[in-house]
Amino acid sequence: MSTGSPRVLPAERGVDEAAAVLRAGGLVAFPTETVYGLGANALDARAAARIFEAKARPSFDPLISHLADAADLAVLVGEVPAAVAALAKRFWPGPLTLIVDRPQAIPPIVTSGLGTMAVRVPDEPSARSLIAVAGVPVAAPSANRFGQLSPTRAEHVVAGLGGAVDVVLDGGPTRCGIESTIVDARGDRPVVLRLGALPVEAIVEAVGPVEVRQGSSGQPVAPGTLAAHYAPRTPLRLGAAAEPGGGRRGFLAFREPPADGDWAAVQVLSPDGDVTTAAARLFDALHRLDAAGVTEIVAEPVPETGVGRAINDRLRRAAATWH
Ligand code: TXA
Ligand code: MG
Repeated sequence: MSTGSPRVLPAERGVDEAAAVLRAGGLVAFPTETVYGLGANALDARAAARIFEAKARPSFDPLISHLADAADLAVLVGEVPAAVAALAKRFWPGPLTLIVDRPQAIPPIVTSGLGTMAVRVPDEPSARSLIAVAGVPVAAPSANRFGQLSPTRAEHVVAGLGGAVDVVLDGGPTRCGIESTIVDARGDRPVVLRLGALPVEAIVEAVGPVEVRQGSSGQPVAPGTLAAHYAPRTPLRLGAAAEPGGGRRGFLAFREPPADGDWAAVQVLSPDGDVTTAAARLFDALHRLDAAGVTEIVAEPVPETGVGRAINDRLRRAAATWH
């Protein structure tokens, strides 16, 4: 873990200073509507290398580049396939990452040597101003150490990355709370590479049937889909509150706190039963259970509809880390 601490600035007022840091090759953590990103100038190979270093991220795991405006896509990559353009038009700014051919301007380190590039326009005003003022595409993975929980608050970033990041823009808790959905729409039928904040149903409604094909190990299609990922430090398993167990245990509930069982800590994701609310709270609740000093976290699966699918996906991956 890095020593020292970053400068933390309020998101809206810190934009100019943070943009200058990006232009000078530094690292800026910033809020998006999904999770906090760890940004660097995507045109600068050395700046991008610092992201991998700060996160202890393997070099085979490519980064997502962020643009200020959907119109910037054509400027950066030229023409894109019709289905990609249609999805961008429909969902940007928003929690959808699209795969396009890597343009010359983007150094190979950003895409881990792939001929393709992941790109999105975040739906968060301060993030878009930051990118616009910096005047460059911003490569940004989630601002956590590799394999760990994604940050949904500036405090999570500071605790996880410390002085490895130069500036943190604090925009409060993020709205969606779960990463973007990644779609490769270059072929005949769009392929969902990572479930995320934009529900599959919304994509199907816009462009027709899609295939959901998530990688799991080895050389994954989207390495964020490694089976073991998004993990708290505390062992986590999927289960129900009624199941017996020993020790100081924490429970992650969907809608209601457990009626029985001896729980040292409980987090309820969504008292109103709405999966969107649950997604917004997921990582914060896991960060809190992690900090509660429990020896095991038992997580209840949520309904498998809308963004609920992405929540269950993250919980299964967190659990896989502990097998
Ligand atoms: O919501 C988000 O997407 C957040 C915010 C900061 O934008 N970012 C994020 O980045 O989740 P990260 O690095 O944690 O996840 C990026 C995912 C990884 O699974 C990576 O493998 C995949 O995107 N990816 C990047 N480039 C790719 C490419 N060319 N083809 C397939 N997958 C790619
Ligand atoms: Mg990540």
